[in-house]
Amino acid sequence: MSELRFVRVDHVFHVSTLTVNRPDKLNALDAEVLADLAAAFASIRDRPETRAAVLTGEGRAFVAGADIAAMTEMGPAEARELSARGHAVFASIESLPFPVIAAVNGFALGGGLELALACDFIHASTKAKFGLPEVGLGVIPGFGGTQRLTRRIGQGMAREWLFSGRTYDAAEALRVGLANRVVEPETLVSSVQELAQDIAMKGPKAVAAAKAVMRDGIDRSLPEGNEMEIEAFAQLFATGDRKEGMTAFVQKRSPLFRGV
Ligand code: COA
Repeated sequence: MSELRFVRVDHVFHVSTLTVNRPDKLNALDAEVLADLAAAFASIRDRPETRAAVLTGEGRAFVAGADIAAMTEMGPAEARELSARGHAVFASIESLPFPVIAAVNGFALGGGLELALACDFIHASTKAKFGLPEVGLGVIPGFGGTQRLTRRIGQGMAREWLFSGRTYDAAEALRVGLANRVVEPETLVSSVQELAQDIAMKGPKAVAAAKAVMRDGIDRSLPEGNEMEIEAFAQLFATGDRKEGMTAFVQKRSPLFRGV
């Protein structure tokens, strides 16, 4: 892939790290940054070696939201197009066949929080700040915030965040279950990459199936979700990775998964 202007992509073994790189505007998402994000995620989806990804931001922000300056002159038709575009990019992140971990290093506001919510889970630095400030601009979140925040932290808490537009620190994000872990800024990306490497050592087909069943089951009834689990569990027994994983256990050695 040729170099992207606003997203850096690095690979170490099976882990790809994407860094949103527009620090002078706190990594705000305009059309070009969104397009680069889409291209970066498509490139790691098409890279056979990738088994886990880390998403972070350059400088003092993760992403400080959609680009407000670019929205000032928009009418409803353009706004619909922007929202639909953001939704499509974020849905493509959710549908990747491997986990994406958001390493939230600083501001994750508006579209930045929505981007983090499209990832599988969040680790935050002590400097992270979270919020959906859109009502303070006279709009609502347009990249999934009204839906994904509710599913992540519950109705009552999400309503408070959305209606007030307040900004919350990392400790509060941890308390409400938005961030899984809070660490010192210097260790954030390396500790998340280490976790991603651990994930990458597991059976890729199994991790992908776990992600798909959990993602698709959340909006279904429990019996339907359980049916999906039964089906996915059964299908994994046809994979080489399943054979390797169980054989390695019996032979008292580490498994070497090939993702087949
Ligand atoms: N859209 C466009 N530009 C943005 C932006 C956004 N969402 N967030 C930050 N920027 C730009 C600022 O305009 C500024 O650019 P400039 O230097 O050319 O003036 C630069 O990034 C640095 O931001 P600044 O506001 O000077 O930093 P700060 O430390 O004083 O404040 C924030 C940081 C995050 C509190 C503040 O930038 C902010 O409130 N941003 C908007 C957050 C938001 O409402 N997001 C949701 C959008 S829907």
